[in-house]
Amino acid sequence: MRLQDKTAIITGAGNGIGKEAAFTFGKEGANVVVADYNLEAAEKVVADMNEFGGNAIAVHVNVADQSSVQKMVEQTIQQFGRIDILVNNAGITSDAMLYKMTPEAWQKVVDVNLTGVFYCTQAVIPKMLEQSKGKIISTSSVSGVYGNVGQTNYAATKAGVIGMTKSWAKEYGGKGINVNAVVPGFIETDMVAKVPENVLDKMRSIIPLQRLGNPADIAKAYLYLASDDADYVNGTALHVDGGIMM
Ligand code: CAA
Ligand code: NAI
Repeated sequence: MRLQDKTAIITGAGNGIGKEAAFTFGKEGANVVVADYNLEAAEKVVADMNEFGGNAIAVHVNVADQSSVQKMVEQTIQQFGRIDILVNNAGITSDAMLYKMTPEAWQKVVDVNLTGVFYCTQAVIPKMLEQSKGKIISTSSVSGVYGNVGQTNYAATKAGVIGMTKSWAKEYGGKGINVNAVVPGFIETDMVAKVPENVLDKMRSIIPLQRLGNPADIAKAYLYLASDDADYVNGTALHVDGGIMM
């Protein structure tokens, strides 16, 4: 029970990696706020969690909307009284080659993946400062570190997540708040299901572990960084990518 009595907000927890993280955190004893744009999906996750005795609530949030994020934080405090962990997991893609990328596709990815992380982190900081303790984990991507064909917008946001993480690690490390990022490789979720098969084959061929990742591979990294085991880890970008590039 590595997260006993801790309260965790996980954004984008209605599906994919976030959903797996909600189950993982619940099994480790956390109160989990399953926050997602898709409330129905979040409610389904909570119903499944409660079946094995977990303590979770579903909350609708649009991370790109500051007032919606504020409501999510208020609901969390009202329900559980504290916020020990924030996992900034919600994210989207809108891939296109640079010459075809519309300003709308650029903006919507920036709004969710970059501004969303800013809004959520800013909103939980006062409570974590009051507690003199907290763990913030944000999801980057190998695309943000090495770049990727067709991902100008996405790569920019995921590189930005690492920059924000390191800045906040410096701002808040001295106040008991650890801020880290996880850098997943290609993980089998709906997001990757949209990638053409020939591109995925190319990816598989350059991964030394010779497989794509699964959501549990990332959920376990979130768990480590959220737990007291990572009390001396701050400002890191933890790659969980099968060694796709080194
Ligand atoms: N690596 C190398 N080459 C790639 C590539 C990649 N990742 N993606 C596309 N290409 C190549 C294509 O093979 C093609 O080459 P040829 O002209 O020699 O045939 C060329 O780029 C143009 O590709 P398309 O003909 O497919 O062009 P399009 O305009 O129809 O589509 C695209 C462009 C939308 C970028 C499409 O190719 C695509 O979806 N590519 C995959 C992008 C990708 O990897 N997204 C990752 C999503 S998952 C994710 O984001 C999670 C994460 O964090 C890693
Ligand atoms: P997914 O598409 O399976 O799930 C994303 C979830 O986020 C969905 O439930 C969706 O409703 C929610 N969401 C989308 N926009 C939202 C918003 N504005 N507000 C609140 N919730 C919103 O995606 P996946 O694969 O689970 O990705 C999770 C995170 O991991 C994302 O940040 C993604 O960029 C990142 N990532 C994923 C990789 C992969 O290969 N799947 C690789 C590297 C990073």
